Parts: sequence; C-alpha cells; structure tokens
Amino acid sequence: MSQSFQPPQRTLMGPGPSDVHPRILEAMGKPTIGHLDPAFIGMMDSMKALIQYAFQTNNELTFCVSAPGSAGMESCFVNLLEPGDKAIVCVNGVFGMRMLENVTRCGAKAVRVDDAWGTPVSPDKLEQALQDNPDAKLVAFVHAETSTGVRSDAAALCKLASDHNCLSIVDCVTSLGGIAVELDAQLPDSLLLPRDSWEPVHAWA
Ligand SMILES: Cc1ncc(COP(=O)(O)O)c(C=O)c1O
Repeated sequence: MSQSFQPPQRTLMGPGPSDVHPRILEAMGKPTIGHLDPAFIGMMDSMKALIQYAFQTNNELTFCVSAPGSAGMESCFVNLLEPGDKAIVCVNGVFGMRMLENVTRCGAKAVRVDDAWGTPVSPDKLEQALQDNPDAKLVAFVHAETSTGVRSDAAALCKLASDHNCLSIVDCVTSLGGIAVELDAQLPDSLLLPRDSWEPVHAWA
C-alpha cells in the first residue's frame, strides 16, 4: 500500500463492529504514556473502581483484560483448569460450545449439559450433573446466549455450583449493561466474562 489507509465514513448497523463515539476516538488520539507512569496507575485505579461498580462487587481482584471477549474467556479457563480436571459446561447455543472447546483444549474433561437452543440452561439438569460428578471443579455457562437471545438464571446456577464446591465461569458478554449483574449479592464463587473484556473475580474461598 503506497498511501495510508483512509477509511470511509459508514453507519454500522450490525451486531458488531459498531460505530465508535467521537469522544472515544478523540481519547484514542491522546499521548501514549508508560504503564509504570503514576498517571497510568491512577487511571487504572479509577477504572477498577468503575468496573467494581458495574459488577456490583467489592472484590479488589477486578481488572481489565485488553482483548476481545474470546481472549477473556480463554484466560478464565486456562487460569482455572489443569489437564485432567473436570468441568461442567452448560450448552444452549454457540457460545456455550465455545466454552466447551476451551475446556477440552486445556486438557480437562468436559461434562456437557445440553439444553435446546432457544431455551435457558436447566438448573435441574445442572444439579443432576453436579450430583453425578462430585469431582467437578467448575461450572461454565453463558448468562445471555447471543446466538438465541435467551437468558439463563445466573443466580440459581451459580448457587448450585457453589453448593457443590464448584467455581463458576459466567459469560456476561451480552447480558452486562442490559440485565442487572450483581456479583457479590447473587453470584457466589464466580468469575465473570464481559465484553472486551473485564474480569471481576469474586473471592474464591
Ligand atoms: C456470549 C458471547 N461470548 C463471547 C463472545 C466473543 O466475544 P468477541 O467477539 O469479543 O471475541 C461473544 C461475541 O459476540 C458473545 O456474544
């Protein structure tokens, strides 16, 4: 390419990519500073406080992963699973299947709990899977399946997991901002995965 790329002005109406507000474009044109600069650290602290507010959590281990949602999802699985571990994955659409793939790529054993696309994850089926697999380490599910628009009862599913000594990975890419996500009050022992990609991590104990 002999000239720099000049993108045309478009109005983007699909689910993504989407138009970026001029305020954000302007912010991206600001000077670069180092990651150890006190100004950067101050900015990170205020961002963490805002994310804690968005997720309604006081957990200090709440941070951004500067990457797409898929990388955030992968970081959740690779940090929690080791080869040979067992994870229960609830699948009721495309992104549940992606969670399943993450588990198998970690070398872990996936227990798949299927619900028909277009229906929520069944707490009864999850409970049965938890009873059948007392050695499971975690439960993973999508709060709102983008592929069908269906919302599952995250509070009920996380409580079941917690009652069986499992952690939960909850994909909130589509739900956060549209549905209340109250991490401390409703989602015990869970790690959330929102869009592009913030990861509030609840206390695991
Ligand atoms: C529920 C859900 N999880 C994960 C992803 C992956 O996010 P990204 O496209 O930012 O990698 C998406 C993307 O639409 C999604 O809808």
